[in-house]
Amino acid sequence: MLDHQSLRRAFGNYATGIAVIGARSEDGTLVGMTVNSFSSVSLEPPLVLYCPARTLRAVETYASARFFSASVLGAGQKRLADLFARQGESKWESIGHRIGETGVPLIAEALASFECENHAVHEAGDHLVVLGHVRVVHLRESADPLVFFRSRYRSLAQSEHGGDLETSQAVHLGWGF
Ligand SMILES: Cc1cc2nc3c(=O)[nH]c(=O)nc-3n(C[C@H](O)[C@H](O)[C@H](O)COP(=O)(O)O)c2cc1C
Repeated sequence: MLDHQSLRRAFGNYATGIAVIGARSEDGTLVGMTVNSFSSVSLEPPLVLYCPARTLRAVETYASARFFSASVLGAGQKRLADLFARQGESKWESIGHRIGETGVPLIAEALASFECENHAVHEAGDHLVVLGHVRVVHLRESADPLVFFRSRYRSLAQSEHGGDLETSQAVHLGWGF
C-alpha cells in the first residue's frame, strides 16, 4: 500500500534546486513564495512550470497574474528561502529586490531569474500546475546553487553519507514494481 510518509520520503530523495516565485496581484500587492517544484519544460517555445498549493491564500493571484517571476537561489541565499517559505505578507518589502521589465519582483543576486507570461494553468490534485512562457532571462553564472534534498538545504559540496550510495528502500507505489 502507498502510505503518505513513504511517498513524502521518496519525493524527498529527488534533489532539487530552490526558486522564489514572485507575482503581482490585481491591486498591486507583491506575493512571493519558496518552491522546489520549479522546472524547465520546453526550449521551443521556452516554457517552465511550478506548482502552487491550492490552499495558498494567494493562490488566485498565482493562477491569474499575467506575469510571474522565478528566481533560482544560490548557496548563500538560504535566508531568503526561509523568508519566502514563511506564511505572511510583505516578504518582498523586507529584502533587496528589483522590478523586472514585466513588472514582477526579482531576487537580486539570484543565479538566474525568469520573467514569465502565464501560459496555462492545470488542476493537479491538491496543487495547480502553472506553465509560464519565458519572456526575459537574467543570468549569473559565478555561484553555486542552493540544493534541497531530504527536507534539508544543502550545497553541492556536502554529502550526507560521505559520498557512498545509500541502499534504497523499495516502496510499492501501486503500478507494478
Ligand atoms: C523547500 C520548500 C519548497 C516548497 N515548495 C513549494 C511548492 O512547490 N509549492 C507550494 O505551493 N509551496 C511550496 N512551499 C511552501 C511555500 O513556500 C509556503 O507555503 C508559502 O511561502 C506560504 O506563504 P504565504 O502564506 O504568504 O502564501 C515550499 C516550502 C519549502 C520550504
